Parts: sequence; C-alpha cells; structure tokens
Amino acid sequence: MLNTQELQKEIIKLKKEKNVCILAHAYQTHDILEVADFVGDSYGLSKEAASDSRETVLMCGVRFMAETAKILSPQKKVILSHPDAGCPMAEQLSAEELKKLKEAHPECAVVAYINTTAELKTLCDVCVTSASALDVVKRLPQKEILFIPDCNLGSWIEKQLPEKRFYFINGGCPVHMGITPEDVKKARCAHPEALLLVHPECKSEVTALADYAGSTTGILAFVEKSEADSFIIGTDNSIVQHLQFTYPGKKFFALSKKCICADMRLTTLGDVYNCLKGTAGEEIILSEETIKKARICIDAMLR
Ligand code: 13P
Ligand code: SF4
Repeated sequence: MLNTQELQKEIIKLKKEKNVCILAHAYQTHDILEVADFVGDSYGLSKEAASDSRETVLMCGVRFMAETAKILSPQKKVILSHPDAGCPMAEQLSAEELKKLKEAHPECAVVAYINTTAELKTLCDVCVTSASALDVVKRLPQKEILFIPDCNLGSWIEKQLPEKRFYFINGGCPVHMGITPEDVKKARCAHPEALLLVHPECKSEVTALADYAGSTTGILAFVEKSEADSFIIGTDNSIVQHLQFTYPGKKFFALSKKCICADMRLTTLGDVYNCLKGTAGEEIILSEETIKKARICIDAMLR
C-alpha cells in the first residue's frame, strides 16, 4: 500500500517518463494540485493548454475543460481525468435550442460561457470565462448580447456594462445557485470581521451582498493582496482548503456547506496515477469540423 506522498512521487516520475502535462482546475483536491504542472481557473487552463509543448495533456477537471484543451491543441492527446466528470451547466442548452434563439435575435453577438459543450461553441461568436467575460463583452462592437447559458454571470456583467442590452436563458451553475442570502446572513453573523468573496456564478442577490465577486483566480488574488485576516468564501469549498494551506496565519470559512461540485470531486489522486498508466480516464475525440468551428470562438476570447 502507498501513502499519499509515495503515490504523488510515482505520479511525478510517470508524468516525466511519459512527457505528460498535468493541468488541474483550482476546484480539484489539494493532493492533485500538488502534482499538477499548472493550476488555474478556466481562463488560465485554456491559455496553458494552448501554450504547453508536451504531446499529452491530462486535464483534471470537467469535460468542457478537456474539450477546450483538445480544440486548442488538436495534435495532442488530451485525457479527461474521469469520464463521468461533466458540468451540468454545459448541458443546459442544446444546439437546436441555440439555433432557434439565434433566429429570434439575429442582431445579437452570441457569447458563450466556456462552460458549454464543444458542439454549442461551434454556433457562438465568442467564448468567455468568469475572469475574461467583462473585458471581452465590453470590447464587442455589437450592442446586443445573447449570453448563454449562465444568467447569473450574465447579469453580473450586465450591471457593469449598462451601455449594452443582454438576453439570457434560464441557465446557471446548480452548485453556486444553491447559495442563498440567508447563508450570507448566517456567515456574516458568525464571522462579522471577515470579508465575503464570491464567484459571479452565484445568484445576483448573493453577489450584491459580497465585498468582492470574481473568478476562482480573482478570489485567490484578492486574498493575496488583502490585509484582512479572515474571509468567507462563496465558491466551491475546495478553495477554502487551498487558501488555508497557502495562508496558515489567516482564517477562511465556507459560505455554504452545500457548495461542493460533485463533478469536480470525482477525480481522485488514484485516477491521476491510473490515467498516467493508461488504465483510467477518457481520451477526448472531436471531429475536425467541430474543432475548426469551436476554435473560432475560443481564439476570439484569447485574442
Ligand atoms: P472559473 O474557473 O472560471 O472561476 O469558473 C469556475 C467554475 O465553475 C468552473 O467550472
Ligand atoms: Fe459546472 Fe458549477 Fe461544477 Fe463549475 S462548479 S463545473 S459550473 S457545476
């Protein structure tokens, strides 16, 4: 039997032998982050997937992240760490439904949150992540924006860009949407000195009560710069743990004990090891046509 450190050593040895780049979303568990070559939010992962030179990428995260890596590096072998790790939000709108929406709003720029399937991206003008959304939408020449699928992230951008007109669907992240203003009240009451940092996938009535709203990397950067000693974190609770490792002298509290993404939690350190041995994970296969069309909207964001 191996302990955590021994397993991590085996993983590091194997990834070097096999020339594999391990990318991990910040919502992965800490033991996985420790063996990754790059840890980041959706935006950071897509940039890294585009620039790394190794032939194989192991994406520890969810399916749309592995698809994004494949679209950006079609010549590479891209493996998703767990075949069942999807993002429920990415499946909320079908290609047929989007085609109908586009017909109803021909004047709109179609902006897709990166949490969408590769198929849906083939029908959109530009992709955004929570870290890039505000900048990207601001620079679009169109005044009218059809923003899919997250209406919470969308309305967070809408508030900051009053010069644009937005259309939304009723989509969103079931994990972040579970956080309520009542959770904020309770957490503020229990930790009155702490600053409240939330992800813009939360409902607008929660975001409105926060001291800061931003992507996972935005939240980490806020803590790094802040002189405050304690923070309530309104995003996947893995971030509470990572922050506590990074800043042992400060205190971090979960805004809601329900804020745990089951899909992000599927991958274990054992899966990472087995993926490197070739006995776990799923290789992402996309048609040339899908890659070509979906790439247009990811490239538009990266530009
Ligand atoms: P970011 O990585 O863009 O912060 O988004 C969080 C998320 O929900 C990923 O699925
Ligand atoms: Fe999808 Fe929400 Fe999980 Fe992110 S946290 S992967 S948006 S379900």
